[in-house]
Amino acid sequence: MIVVTGATGNIGRRLVGRLLQDGAQVRALTRDPSRAGLPPAAETVRADLTDAAGLAPLLAGAEALFLNLAAGGEQSAVAVLDAAVTAGVRRVVLNSSVAVTDSPADETNFIARMHAAVERAVRASGLEWTFVRGSNYATNTLGWAASIRESGVVRNAHPGAQGVPVHEADLADVAAVALLDRTGAHAGQAYVVTGPEALTVAEQAAEIGRAIGREVRVEQISEDAAAEAIAGPHMPKESARELIRMFGSTVGRPAPPVSDAVERVTGHPARPFAQWAREHAADFS
Ligand SMILES: NC(=O)c1ccc[n+]([C@@H]2O[C@H](COP(=O)([O-])OP(=O)(O)OC[C@H]3O[C@@H](n4cnc5c(N)ncnc54)[C@H](OP(=O)(O)O)[C@@H]3O)[C@@H](O)[C@H]2O)c1
Repeated sequence: MIVVTGATGNIGRRLVGRLLQDGAQVRALTRDPSRAGLPPAAETVRADLTDAAGLAPLLAGAEALFLNLAAGGEQSAVAVLDAAVTAGVRRVVLNSSVAVTDSPADETNFIARMHAAVERAVRASGLEWTFVRGSNYATNTLGWAASIRESGVVRNAHPGAQGVPVHEADLADVAAVALLDRTGAHAGQAYVVTGPEALTVAEQAAEIGRAIGREVRVEQISEDAAAEAIAGPHMPKESARELIRMFGSTVGRPAPPVSDAVERVTGHPARPFAQWAREHAADFS
């Protein structure tokens, strides 16, 4: 049986479906099963992962764990990992980040530090592990949805910032292969999982425009205004600023690298951003 944290999230929902398709037994964790809308074939279980006292039963009887920091944060992830070790779980697939590069010198931003800390805990756990180090998620652009719907405008501090947006289905597919692995072929592997092409913010906005059949314009705003817009209870203003400066540092630089991990691990090519935009057109219309 495979336990999926963040099961109602972007990756988790795809992953649950994919694991069920492959005939696996799945325990899907969510804070609210009544609103989860997960397939009935999954065992959907109520779990707030910030409640360390309630973790043991969630892992009982599991062979593998998909660990997503989005489900409760870094401390919860480490507590879930400890509970997995105690429960005799064999394998963990960690949803990590391309920001982690195996060089402590590169832990220059909070995203790298947070994921690197959990990667270290996973390595030290004694479990078999696979890291899925995703590049920028295509789903990040859902943050533009309200503004595109209202005015056809994306307000961004760095229209020329580059990334390699990755489809949540590709992240889920890579994670599924590693979770279902009984050969050990994926144990000890840190996969950098990206989309198939580097795109700027302006290019992603234009692709969304094509998908919805309406021009989408990018309006440049200050770093401060951009930080204000994404700051919130889970993103202090200073972290938001750090993130925006990080995006800005990619402007005019060589394109970030494209990885072939999706194809190597799953056997199918990575899904292009244009496909992602078509599949999510309703969110922007
Ligand atoms: N965005 C990027 O570009 C990027 C790049 C690399 C890595 N990452 C990593 O990917 C993560 C995001 O993954 P995602 O997009 O799949 O996440 P997501 O869509 O935000 O899903 C997170 C899920 O976690 C659950 N959750 C939240 N708090 C919880 C709690 N206290 N206890 C239990 N469950 C909780 C929520 O489900 P319920 O409401 O049903 O409980 C939610 O559906 C980031 O946090 C980061 O670690 C992101």
